[in-house]
Amino acid sequence: MPVAQTFRPYVILNAAMSLDGKIATFTGDSRMSSAPDMRRVHRLRASVDAIMVGLRTLLVDDPKLSVKFVKGHNPYRIILDSNARTPLTSYVVGTARDVPTIIAVTSTAQRKRIEALKERGVTVLVCGKGPQVSLTFLLRRLRTLGIRRMLLEGGGTLNWSMLSHHLVDEISVAITPRILGGTGAISLVAGRGAARVKDGVKLKLLNFARYGPDLVVRYKVLDPGSVGY
Ligand SMILES: NC(=O)c1ccc[n+]([C@@H]2O[C@H](COP(=O)([O-])OP(=O)(O)OC[C@H]3O[C@@H](n4cnc5c(N)ncnc54)[C@H](OP(=O)(O)O)[C@@H]3O)[C@@H](O)[C@H]2O)c1
Repeated sequence: MPVAQTFRPYVILNAAMSLDGKIATFTGDSRMSSAPDMRRVHRLRASVDAIMVGLRTLLVDDPKLSVKFVKGHNPYRIILDSNARTPLTSYVVGTARDVPTIIAVTSTAQRKRIEALKERGVTVLVCGKGPQVSLTFLLRRLRTLGIRRMLLEGGGTLNWSMLSHHLVDEISVAITPRILGGTGAISLVAGRGAARVKDGVKLKLLNFARYGPDLVVRYKVLDPGSVGY
C-alpha cells in the first residue's frame, strides 16, 4: 500500500548518470558530475531536511553527505544498513556528534554493533524484522522527527526499493556526456525491474536545463501505484 505523502517526507531522488544510465562504473567509480551540477546538488541538499543513501554507497564512497559551496544547514544523514555494518571509521559515524546521523537497521542487527554506533552519537532506528529495513516504517518515523522533505541519493538498489514501494515523488537526473557500459556497472535503478513497459514507473517531464556539460532533467512521479513488484 502506498504511504500517503502527509505521513512521510516528500522524496526527491537525485543522481548523476552516464548517457547509458550508469551511476557508477564497474569498479564503483561514481564521480561524474560537473562543477556546475555539483553546485546544483548542494543547493538541493541545503533545501531538504535529510539525505538518504544505501549501505553499499556508504561502503564504496564513504560520503560526507553535507552541504558545500552554498550557505545552508547540514540536513540529517540517513543510512539504510539492515545489519548495522556501517564502519565505525566511516566519515558519517566520525562526525555524528556534529551532524545529525540516523542509521536504520532491522531487529536482526547485533546489539553490540548498535551500541557502538550509539556511543559515537549516531541515532539508530530499528525498522522491522528484516531481512531489510522496512521503508514504510522508516519513512513514517522520519516524518515524526520533523523530516518533511528528503533527498534520496541512491544507489541503484535503494532507488528501486523506494520507487517500487511508491515512496518517490520527484526525480532529478544529471546526464553526463559519457557512455560507461559494463554489465556489472550499477544503473540508476537496479532491483528486479518491471516485466512490461506499461508496468514501469510513469513520469511527467517537469523541466530540463544545462549545467555546464551536463543535462539535468526533472520529472514528477505519476501514478506510482502502477509498479508491479
Ligand atoms: N552517480 C550517482 O549519483 C550515485 C549516487 C549514489 C550511489 N552511486 C553509486 O552506486 C553504487 C552503490 O549502489 P548499490 O545499488 O550497489 O547499493 P545501494 O543502493 O547504495 O545500497 C544497497 C544496500 O542498502 C541496504 N538496504 C537496507 N535496507 C534496504 C531496503 N529496504 N532496500 C534496499 N536496500 C536496502 C542493503 O544492504 P543490507 O542488506 O546490508 O542492509 C542493500 O544491499 C556505488 O558504486 C555508488 O558510488 C552513484
